[in-house]
Amino acid sequence: MPRAKQAEFQIGYVWMALATAIFGGFALAGHLAFLIGFNRPLGVGFASHIQIHGHLQLIGWAGLFIIGISLHFIPRLSSAPISQPHWIPRLLWLIGTGLAVRFISHSALPYFDDGLFFVLFSWIAAASGLLEWYGVLLYLSLIASTIFGISKANRKPPFLAVRPYFGMMMIGFLLYATIHAVLLLQMAWRGNVVVGQTWNEASIHIFIGLVLLPVAFGFSIRAFPLYLRLPVPDWAVQRVAYIYFVGLLCQIGEILPINPFYDVWVHIANVGMSLKAGSIIYLVWKLDILLHIQESSIAHRDLQSSSDHRQGRRTITDGSEFGRFAWHIYAAYGWLVLAALAEVLIGSFGLFQVRFAISSDVIQHTYLFGFVTNLIMGVSVRMVPGFLKKRRVASARLVDVTFWLVNIAVLGRVLLLLLPSALLEGAVVIGTIAQAAFGLSGTLGLLATVCLAINLWRTVYSISA
Ligand code: HEM
Repeated sequence: MPRAKQAEFQIGYVWMALATAIFGGFALAGHLAFLIGFNRPLGVGFASHIQIHGHLQLIGWAGLFIIGISLHFIPRLSSAPISQPHWIPRLLWLIGTGLAVRFISHSALPYFDDGLFFVLFSWIAAASGLLEWYGVLLYLSLIASTIFGISKANRKPPFLAVRPYFGMMMIGFLLYATIHAVLLLQMAWRGNVVVGQTWNEASIHIFIGLVLLPVAFGFSIRAFPLYLRLPVPDWAVQRVAYIYFVGLLCQIGEILPINPFYDVWVHIANVGMSLKAGSIIYLVWKLDILLHIQESSIAHRDLQSSSDHRQGRRTITDGSEFGRFAWHIYAAYGWLVLAALAEVLIGSFGLFQVRFAISSDVIQHTYLFGFVTNLIMGVSVRMVPGFLKKRRVASARLVDVTFWLVNIAVLGRVLLLLLPSALLEGAVVIGTIAQAAFGLSGTLGLLATVCLAINLWRTVYSISA
């Protein structure tokens, strides 16, 4: 029987992710941060805008990137082509339309009185959740057929090692999309302008813990030995995934509003948080991504040369055609380690009933903005040109500009909330600078994303193959 062909990379996912981030997620981040940082009146839409910002960034910015890249990467890694390739653009439109409809309808809600328009827009927002949910189901069925539907003989060991990471991603996507759809239906039914905060928070934890971090790890373990000349993993990749998963379940148990053992679970959650964050630090250590102290193995060179052969390229280069994309990746892992260290400390102190005061918003944004966003920026500059058979990125300088903008923005986003209030009140200059840095962080993040979009657009449409 002739082997089925692998589906081509769909650049539409990258454009949709960038458009959602630029016109939605980061634009709202710029607005919210400005209001907070420069003490402006928050307005009636503030709470709704926070939820819309969070959702657009999770599903639109990070989620669409993950879906687009994974539909290209996973079938090749497992040597099992997508069974229904014509679904790939279809699910992009389902999710993209859902995001646009949610953005417009939910943003408008706080500005209506309880009249006909309020009801109409509430149910339109609810419908957006169903569109996204259906799109996510299509995506999961495509990935499931690739991950689980392949014959035993076809299963490549490199893919098997990272399968638990992608399995977690599938569970997380399904849970998040379902909770999100139900919350929007409930919001319309009750006539509220925001979704229920407790479940909303739980769903965000689920998406970060089960989708974003595992998929980033699975991808890094398989792709970075090749792109960053790191050693091929010869450690217990699967076992680390299971330890991470158990730790995360313990941690999330405390946040779920339906936990009947809440009093006991507080302690279990502290152990879980330390376990999860400890496994992240171990993983970064074993990847050798920050310290580069392990020897690159011979297998690594073999992997490179065979991959070069497959891709029909001259040789794997030193990567300079893609600018200093690696800086994004090192910065991403630096932020990741900081967030994980903070969680180890919070969990460990918590075991002894001592509060280690770091705001959960800071940890969340260190993961989401520091780690995930830097990773998306570095990976897209390095890999998207190759997926489209381009030999280089349009502007190496623009990669540098993007790097500095985004990392200054991350610093501005977290610094204000890290500094002790006594310092902020005592040293007025420091307090003013930290406030202003917070106020401008969203705008800088937005500019970084615009730079990335311009660079990728020029790479795709002005560089010859
Ligand atoms: C410069 C960049 C950013 C700024 C200025 C910013 C700002 C904010 C602000 C002010 C909040 C509300 C915090 C609170 O309730 O105390 C928030 C929440 C949130 N942000 Fe960001 N953010 C940025 C980047 C990101 C990125 C890159 C992501 C995801 C990839 C993200 C995901 C979220 C999520 C999930 C929430 C919680 C939403 C909710 O409670 O429903 N943010 N952000």
